This record gives sequence, structure tokens and C-alpha cells, in this order.
Amino acid sequence: MKIYRAKDFRDMSRKAANIISAQVILNPQCVLGLATGSSPIGVYKQLAEWYRKGDIDFSETKSVNLDEYCGLGPENEQSYRFFMNKNLFDNINIDKNNTYVPNGLEPDAQKECRRYDELIRRLGGIDTQLLGLGHNGHIGFNEPGAAFDKDTHCVELAQSTIEANRRFFASEEDVPKRAYTMGIRSIMQARRIVIIVSGEGKAEIVRKSFFGPITPEVPASVLQLHNNITLVGDEAALSLIPEEAF
Ligand code: GLP
Repeated sequence: MKIYRAKDFRDMSRKAANIISAQVILNPQCVLGLATGSSPIGVYKQLAEWYRKGDIDFSETKSVNLDEYCGLGPENEQSYRFFMNKNLFDNINIDKNNTYVPNGLEPDAQKECRRYDELIRRLGGIDTQLLGLGHNGHIGFNEPGAAFDKDTHCVELAQSTIEANRRFFASEEDVPKRAYTMGIRSIMQARRIVIIVSGEGKAEIVRKSFFGPITPEVPASVLQLHNNITLVGDEAALSLIPEEAF
């Protein structure tokens, strides 16, 4: 595992954006695995800025997102499709037809999850997967206890995740209780993983995930087994990991 220590959120975002832009420049037709949440917002801003300057061209790039809330459509401002359009796709020259997010409006979970797995397979798999980290160690929406051998599936969100994501909704009752998410196996099959973490609030879960035992109770701990993973964190988020790790 490579670890990059960044000064702050801005620096973390720039470093992670650098890795993604290198991927797109080396292979313009690559498949990016993308994430939502507050952590990647700075990365997306940076990529859009470099696009505007003429430094990156996304016209042939494809993307697949990790997850989507069940019951929310693309027009719903809290949906992850809406988030991706607003924070990235509307600001770069990617062809929106080449951007994929699970369809939260498909009521048949089985059907939607198989469709999404098939889509990822047809695209040839994910070249670089960007990840955030939930406070309880979730990646995508794979909550503690999630089996390591799952592909895309439907999950019941943990109460702590509902509470953490409540800030984006009018009230807790409005936070969807279920989501479609790529599974741990889908994530682990990405050829490269970049995980970004920022803020003191993530320090303990970063330590547990990367320096603790590998266990489904801390879903992100499985990433220790990936052979091409880069952790990019700001000083606060990396503050509890052993100095020898750098
Ligand atoms: C959500 C997303 C995850 C994300 C996590 C952390 O639950 N489904 O993909 O990594 O939140 O969010 P944040 O980056 O806002 O801390």
C-alpha cells in the first residue's frame, strides 16, 4: 500500500486528482470507478479545473459509480446520479451516456444488481476506483458485517450511516433506508484503488481499516489484501497510524 500524506483537504484532493488524471491521460478510454460523499468533492473540482485549462480530455472515458439510494431518481437532488452530474459530469467533457450509476428507481433489486454487474463486465472492469471511507468502515454502502464475496446487491443502511447522511436531507425520515451498492468483490476487482480520507473524525477508522485485523466488521480492512492501493489522506485523518508506515 502506498500512503500519501497531504497537508489538508485541498492538498489531498489535488494528490488524488493527479492519480486519476494520470490514468485518463495514459488511457483515455479507461473505466473510472467513482464515489460520492463529501470526500471526493475537491477531487472532482480539481479535475474540472484541469479540464477547463485543457490539460485532460474525458471524451472517451467511461465511469461507473459505486452506489445509489433505492427510490431516488436522477432528478432528486439527493440522488447520487444528481450529485455526480452536478459535481463532475456537467463540468467536464465526459459523454453522459458513458457514465453509469445504479438505477435507484428499479424496484426489482435482483434485476438491477445483475444488470449492473453485467455492465461492469462488458466495460472490461474498472481501471481506477476512487473510494471514500464511512465512519464505521463502510466502502460504497458495504456496511459492517458485509460478506467479502458479494457483487452488486441491495443493502439496508446501518443506523449510523442514516444519521451521518441525514445532513444532506430535510429530516432523518427522508434518508432512504436501502441502497444498491457494488459489493466488496466488485470493488476488489478494480485494477487500482485510490482511497481518500480527510479530517480528525476519520483517524480512528483509518487506523482500524489499514492497521487492524482484516474482518467484515470493518469492511475497508479487506483493502489491505489489494495489490494496488493508494491511501491519500490529510494529516488529521492519518494522525493515528504508525510513523513507520510512511
Ligand atoms: C456515503 C457513501 C460512501 C462514502 C461515505 C463517506 O455513505 N455511500 O461511498 O464513502 O458516505 O462519506 P464522506 O466522504 O462524506 O465522509
